[in-house]
Order: sequence, then structure tokens, then C-alpha cells
Amino acid sequence: MKISVIGTGYVGLVTGSCLAEVGNNVLCLDLDAAKIEALNASSITIFEPGLQELVRTNVAAGRLHFTTSVQEAVAFGQIQFIAVGTPPDEDGSADMQYVLAAARSIGLHMVEEKLVVNKSTVPVGTAERVRAAIAEELATRDVQLTWHVASNPEFLKEGAAVEDFMRPDRIVIGTDSDFATDLLRELYVPFQRNHERLVVMDIASAELTKYAANAMLATRISFMNELANLAEKLGADIEQVRRGIGSDQRIGYHFLYAGTGYGGSCFPKDVQALQRTAQQVGVPLRVLEAVEATNNAQKLVLVEKLVARFGENLRGKRFAMWGLAFKPNTDDMRAAPSRAIMERLWALGATVQAYDPVAMDEARRLYGDRADLQLVNSPMDALKGADALLIVTEWKPFKSPDFALMKQLLNQPVVFDGRNLYDPARVRAAGLEYFSVGRADA
Ligand code: UDX
Repeated sequence: MKISVIGTGYVGLVTGSCLAEVGNNVLCLDLDAAKIEALNASSITIFEPGLQELVRTNVAAGRLHFTTSVQEAVAFGQIQFIAVGTPPDEDGSADMQYVLAAARSIGLHMVEEKLVVNKSTVPVGTAERVRAAIAEELATRDVQLTWHVASNPEFLKEGAAVEDFMRPDRIVIGTDSDFATDLLRELYVPFQRNHERLVVMDIASAELTKYAANAMLATRISFMNELANLAEKLGADIEQVRRGIGSDQRIGYHFLYAGTGYGGSCFPKDVQALQRTAQQVGVPLRVLEAVEATNNAQKLVLVEKLVARFGENLRGKRFAMWGLAFKPNTDDMRAAPSRAIMERLWALGATVQAYDPVAMDEARRLYGDRADLQLVNSPMDALKGADALLIVTEWKPFKSPDFALMKQLLNQPVVFDGRNLYDPARVRAAGLEYFSVGRADA
């Protein structure tokens, strides 16, 4: 099949290269000429396991191409994926300008029957706005055509996006025509594995499904974080509670880890956007308001523990930080707990020595050179002369450190673990003072 993908951000690039990998001919469009030049040379700036290799092999095989020409992209694919960004507006609702601009471009150049598929995360009702924008352009040109719009939300996790695309739990398709359903069913045959993964529904339901999934997961996390804070006070252990409730199949083990709160490009943005949508139609989502407030507070839970230990005035204190990315296997620091933590520590007068296996460049880009942030080259370097360690991201290399060496390097042997990586008894046996989340630290 010939497919065009509008937008070469995270979702667009993963979608385009995975569809090329199974034999389709894919043309990706971006208006950023420097980016397209780099992509044509198989150079990508996103850190995502497996993606660089996938782009390289599919460009080399002649199945994956990149262009800055809107006209070329619209002419190319029978299926046109819209995969542009929907950043939050000031009020938290999703900014639709890029999606609608992409729709208008399609309407401006389309000369034959096409299926336009929305992959961007968009509020319910967007497919209708996309349809209207295309129709308006066609009317201006006085062109009569049959064309279709569908919704196909993505459920990719950063750090596992290629794997999620190639081996999906489900593929949600929202359509209102047999043409669209049949074409998308055929497109996704290579990804079905041992049973049917396609869930076909109406367009509004597909659009809402994406938000519902992310909001549900965010809710689980915030609920576990509140339970963790309670467990601490009651002398209970949230890790044991997690195992106890996860064994109930109706609950399950996934996404029950208490910690320093969720971050990233999806949960915070989607939780807010769904609340705005609900407000607009007069249905307040009170649970989600609480989820968001809980998460904002949870991001600072380590700082609270630190202040309880060291006092409010942290002037002259230096803290080590392991992990800057919002989760492992990505360099993404969007809405990362590390940022809320560092910014609060700085406000209280402290300096931070941080290490992350891949997000150091991103930290430099975000914070530039500042006297109160040193980015160091190894986890152990971060500890040198520090008054305590804060663990913020559960990267694998942090999971089994040399506790004796940590004690030696730290100025004061204190560890605040925001990801519950260690057995408290073991850490304490090594002579470290240890605080974690939801596990009766006192
Ligand atoms: C999420 C969804 O999982 C994905 O389906 C959707 O398409 C995009 O949003 P992503 O943002 O990449 O993916 O990260 P995810 O792995 O879901 O983690 C989100 C955040 O929740 C991270 O900050 C993570 O640390 C946190 N988290 C996750 C917890 O605090 N506890 C958990 O048990 C799980």
C-alpha cells in the first residue's frame, strides 16, 4: 500500500517506519527542511529503542521516504495519516491548529479518493472538524470527490514504541464507512499475531477511547500514590499491598507502582484535555481533577521528606540526583518529576548534581548553564560531596549499586528513593539512611 504520514514527530516517525517495515511504501512529510534532510540520511534526533535501525533499513530498502512537499505527500498515499502535535493550549485543551492545517493541505491538493486517518491525540469531534476543513478546501477549488475520514488513536509507550506498534494489544479504528474499515483492516493484517487485534467502532468512541485509556492509567497511579502516603503513616508497606491487590485479576499488576508521580507527554496533557472537554459539555470529571492535584503533589513527595530531614533552608546543601527522564529508556523530560524536584530544591537554595544515562543533553537544552546544576558522567560521580541522593527514574543501572561505595562517596549517607528500588533492610544494613515511598520509613 502507498501511505503518507503528515508529521515526523514521535508518533509519525514510528508509524511511518513500522508500516514501511511490513512492506508498505511510505512517504513522511514535515515542513522542517533540516529535519527532512537528516531523515533522508537516516539520522534521527529522537531517542527510541529500535527506531534508528528501522528508519535506516527501510530508507535503504527504498520503502521509506521523506519530503517537505505537501503536494507530493498528498498525491502519494491512498491513506493519509495525520500525526502532528496537539500541544496543550493555555487552558489545558488540545491545540488543534496543526491538525486542521494538515486537513486543509489535504483538501487543497487532493485529486482522487483518499482515506484520511487521524493518529494525533485529539478531542472527541475532531474528525468532524477535519472533515469540514477538507470539504471547505475542496469547495473552494470546486472539486467533487469521494473521500473518507477515520480515527486510529495510538497507544505507544515511549521507550517501547516500536515494540508496541509491531505487537499491539489492540488497534482501535473509528470509522463510518466500509471503505475505511476494509482498507484499515487490510493495512493492519501484519500486526494481528495470534488473534484479531482490531477493535472497530464509531469515530467519537475511538477518539474518546484514547483519552479514557490514559486517564484510567493516570488514575490508577495517583490512587496508588495516595495509598502509599497513607501506608507510610499506618506502618504498612505499599509494595506488599500492590502484590496483594494485583493478584486479583480484575485489578491486575500493571501500573500499580507508587513513586514520584507520572510525567511525560501524554498523561498530564490528556488528563487535562479530557477535563476541559468534559467541562465544555457540562459533565465535570471530579475524579480526574483529584488525579491531577494528587500527581502535582506527589512530584514533590521526595522534597517533603528531604525538608523533614534537613529543614526548610537548604542553602549551601548539595544533592545528588539519579534520573532526569520522566521514565527509563527515553530522554524525554516533558512534565518529568525530576524538573519539579530540581526547581523546588533550587528555590530552597540547594544545588543539584545529576546523572541520567540518556537525558543529559535534554537537561542542558532545558536549563542551560546554571551554577546550581552540575551534570556529571556517572551515578557515582553524582554522589561525591553530596548531602543526600534522590532517585527519580528507575533506570536499570541504578538497580543494584555498590551500597558501601555510595556510603563512602556521599557527604551524608542519606538516600531518598522515589522508585522503591531497594530492599530497605539491605540499604540500611550498609549504613545508609533510607527513605522510600509508602514503606514505613520512620
Ligand atoms: C503513555 C501510555 O502508556 C501510552 O499507551 C500512550 O499512548 C501514551 O502515554 P508514556 O507516556 O510513554 O505512555 O509512558 P508510561 O510508560 O505509560 O508511563 C507514564 C508515567 O507514569 C511515567 O512517568 C511513569 O514513571 C509513571 N508510572 C507508570 C508510575 O508512576 N507508576 C506505574 O505503575 C506506571
